[in-house]
Amino acid sequence: MTEVTWSLEMAEKRGYPHFMLKEIYEQPRSLRNALRLQHQYLDLLTAFLDRGRELFLVAAGTSYHACLAASYMFSKLAKLTTYPVVSSEFVERYGASVGIDSIVLTVSQSGETYDTLRAVDHARMRAATVLGITNTVGSTLTRVARAYVIQQSGPEIGVAATKTFTSQLLVLAQLALRLARTRGKVSQDEIDDLEAKLVEVPSFVERTLEGQAEHVEALARKYADERLFLFLGRGVSSATALESRLKVLEITYVPSLAYPAGESKHGPISVVEEGVPCIFICPRGETRRDIVGSIMEMKARGARIIAVCEEGDEGIIDLSDDHIEMPRGVPELLSPIIYVVPLQLLAYHLATAKGLDPDKPRNLAKSVTVP
Ligand code: AGP
Repeated sequence: MTEVTWSLEMAEKRGYPHFMLKEIYEQPRSLRNALRLQHQYLDLLTAFLDRGRELFLVAAGTSYHACLAASYMFSKLAKLTTYPVVSSEFVERYGASVGIDSIVLTVSQSGETYDTLRAVDHARMRAATVLGITNTVGSTLTRVARAYVIQQSGPEIGVAATKTFTSQLLVLAQLALRLARTRGKVSQDEIDDLEAKLVEVPSFVERTLEGQAEHVEALARKYADERLFLFLGRGVSSATALESRLKVLEITYVPSLAYPAGESKHGPISVVEEGVPCIFICPRGETRRDIVGSIMEMKARGARIIAVCEEGDEGIIDLSDDHIEMPRGVPELLSPIIYVVPLQLLAYHLATAKGLDPDKPRNLAKSVTVP
């Protein structure tokens, strides 16, 4: 006889100490699911997107960060003017200008976030076309959107969103690429290349988890007592920086800043002093040259540099105190889906190193259904 010491809750965690960790490790699978969505739904959403004069990407929290990253995809690939906006600001900011030619694509894991649904109500009242991406079948968003797609991530119990973020982004990337193909604004070769890379995303994430998990845990122990973190990235990586910062804030309570790196000299640099850890997101691509400049700026002021960069990128590695190596060949536009993963892990291990429960952050609910 062997006595099973697992509680029912632990059994649900399949041996992981926390849901958050389990969900981080589920990402290769949830991403594969996101690549298997039924084509007719993606085609329908693409057809609506193509009719818009402008696109509003509306969401809250982590889902907003997915929208922010996706706004670079829609602008660059489909050449569609795209405005990412947090749900709670949508009515104030665009309520008077949104109209029949606007497409409002709302993203909500729960499909029940009050602010997002309020933005949807307003957009519908102004005759805009409301589309949705959600993880929750039968949610209010699925009832009020003109068309929607279910991202198929499976239940997410951890209050800090992880696997639903990467899947939202993978769905958004598929839509941006479909729209780009429909509109014919970028070359066939570029779209073919990106589509081929899209299919590789789950294995990029798998390799990152396999190769970097222990190293990231050791980094978390090293930096566990820091009282401030800075997260910086350029272009689409500014969304990765914001999302990684949100993970650290939510579950470690360490006040942290995240900025587009180019903006750091307009203020945030004033908090940098000897030893402040500065996490740079540095995929290879158009922004790499500028990010090197930003790293040097921070280094000159005594910051400790932790770079998330491509394996073998010696130019960045030489400038860094620590680095996390990402697989080669990740296109910059898709990089947030993969580069966020070790930083989700970093936030998780920082929290546990502090003795905090990452599944139950104080003052936070999984879904905010009240004003
Ligand atoms: C993410 O870690 C947060 N818990 C939170 O920001 C969340 O993303 C936000 O409340 C939006 O939720 P939704 O996707 O269900 O609309």
